Amino acid sequence: MQQTRREFLALFSRTAGCFVATASVNALVGCSIPRSGASAYGFPQGVASADPQPDAVVLWTRVVPEAPDAEESVALRLQLARDEEFSEVVLEDTFTAERELDYTVRCFVDGLEPARTWYYRFIDPDDGTSRTGRTRTAPAPDADATLTAGLCSCQHYEEGLFSAYRRLVLDDAEAPADRKIDLVIHTGDYIYEGNERRQTDADGQPIEIVNRDGSPRRVPDVPEAVTLDDYRELYRTYLSDPDLQEARAMFPFVHTWDDHELFNDYWQSFHPSGPMQRRKVDANQAWFEYIPAALSFAQAGPTGTNPARDFIPGEVEDMEPADFDDDYLSHEPNNLAAIGTLAIHRTLRWGRMVELIVVDGRSYRGPRGLDNAILGSATVAYTNAPLPAQLIEVQNAGRTANGGNPPETVELNGEELTNTRRDAPRSSLLGAAQKAWLKESLTASDARWKAICNDVPLLRFGFDMSFREHGNLDDLWWTDSWDGYPVERRELMSFVRDNSLSNVVSLTGDRHAHFAGLVYDDFDGDAPTPAVPEFAGTAISAGPRLKNQVAFSGGDPEVDRLIVFDGRDVGIEGAVLPALNAWLLFGHEAAATLSATGDTDAARGAANPAVNPHLSYADTDALGYTVVRFTTERAEAEFVTIEQPDRDYGDAGPPVRRRVRFSVPVWEPGDAPTLVAGGSEGEPPLMGFKV
Ligand SMILES: [Fe+2]
Repeated sequence: MQQTRREFLALFSRTAGCFVATASVNALVGCSIPRSGASAYGFPQGVASADPQPDAVVLWTRVVPEAPDAEESVALRLQLARDEEFSEVVLEDTFTAERELDYTVRCFVDGLEPARTWYYRFIDPDDGTSRTGRTRTAPAPDADATLTAGLCSCQHYEEGLFSAYRRLVLDDAEAPADRKIDLVIHTGDYIYEGNERRQTDADGQPIEIVNRDGSPRRVPDVPEAVTLDDYRELYRTYLSDPDLQEARAMFPFVHTWDDHELFNDYWQSFHPSGPMQRRKVDANQAWFEYIPAALSFAQAGPTGTNPARDFIPGEVEDMEPADFDDDYLSHEPNNLAAIGTLAIHRTLRWGRMVELIVVDGRSYRGPRGLDNAILGSATVAYTNAPLPAQLIEVQNAGRTANGGNPPETVELNGEELTNTRRDAPRSSLLGAAQKAWLKESLTASDARWKAICNDVPLLRFGFDMSFREHGNLDDLWWTDSWDGYPVERRELMSFVRDNSLSNVVSLTGDRHAHFAGLVYDDFDGDAPTPAVPEFAGTAISAGPRLKNQVAFSGGDPEVDRLIVFDGRDVGIEGAVLPALNAWLLFGHEAAATLSATGDTDAARGAANPAVNPHLSYADTDALGYTVVRFTTERAEAEFVTIEQPDRDYGDAGPPVRRRVRFSVPVWEPGDAPTLVAGGSEGEPPLMGFKV
């Protein structure tokens, strides 16, 4: 049966440009030795590996023929060896890169020994060779091995160089053997569909960024991705970045996606600006071509099955959402067909230590708890002020609000507005099937740690708007993440609590800022209790939260001063300084005091302890990455903030502005998690520590 399934998968996947090969136990004799010399082919996007398993890993490349249109396919040889010199080759096999898949190939190689470093390269028909990639297999299922992982997200090509990856690679080279990076978790926004975004300098002037080779860092032909070739062009361009290529060649990656792999703030295959089934299919195909992952070949997880599946092309038309079920899934056939072309939620096991549970927060979600009709515009993505949590709660709950008796109106700024979600289903972020799978994976896994790899934060980010007539202490602004789905968040966190699940952590990105905190079982309950710690790492290069947030305030000076201030006005160094850390951790009075005086002692004196008591750390003026580490005793995070990657720092990599460490000790079933500050180096973020 095993063989039959494997054969079936091999056949199925071959049509999708996936190949399977089994490594030999013994080194092969008589392997081809590529000669150096002129080749009519190239590997401009480098090589990559992904989803390490104890006996297997996925290897990827893209080959470019000199005359692309002349060749339907290119035969590539893959070599995998135990050593960098390829003196112990254990696999040599031939695969075909098809033009139909933009000459990309994915090879699932099994038969490997666990917990080992491997080297691989691809050889073109002219004997030209790709760069050598390095990868690593997961430990044996019963091994007590620690996991050290990079945590990355949000890389906008035009907004900055991907220098953070250079820092990660250089730091790893210096790290002691027991702290080497095993894999890199990427929680999405690997590309941005919208270009023409610029970083700005202290005076708000756009910065023109130049690549290492002197070329302008632009994607001129794709102002906004619409077609399959647009999405491909974005991946090709993003992967031309030498630092990203280096990281991909050095570490296996574990990917999920967020919205920008398709379109800002989309859900299922919809957006207020119009249905986008065709774009969903095209974005799925481009992701599948350029992002390696073990999908059809992923190991069965704790549930005994594996929901992920390779890309299958689908013919769809753009149709408005219709025919919703109780979890807000639109059964409109084109929607189901579009989101059904690719399934990426899956688990990966790191010995006895960690179950990585990778979720897809986009393909099955319903609209968030915030109705654009209420806001008076069909396309508003962000409100220019935070909204009451109660309004979002009622909207999110739809017809299930108030015990199935939803109010006819909701209140906003003292006005009674029609509750447009009164007859709507309750909205879900994961969708019913994925949520059931997540719950079952959490309860069935016997790994010491269960790490949910989330595209968006679970943490609540309350904005203290109590200085306004209708404002509250915990109004919400970032509702495209779990803050827009409070009902399902409460359901999941209560599930963790009620089942006495311990050592569950959430790893995420999305906010273009570093945050550490505790997700409560019920933020609005009588006695909120921590259920799941979360480490939210910042962006590689997409606009830092601080600058983004100013753009969302609509120029409201009372709000702006709570986000950012000019240090030169109050006699401290720095032109663009964050008040936002203080606003989130200590409330509006603290942030306003900081903005007006630059005096952090005075600002702390004005702190309100009721503001976001679950947040411990905020660095909202940060780009970089995070390193997480899981051991028998604790889960640790080191938040790394680099200097702005608006210029090339060369082979030395970008300087580090700060490193900040937090950890979570293991906790017993029935206990609650705690978050422990673990020291820092460099200039601390302005009022970024709760304690
Ligand atoms: Fe992002």
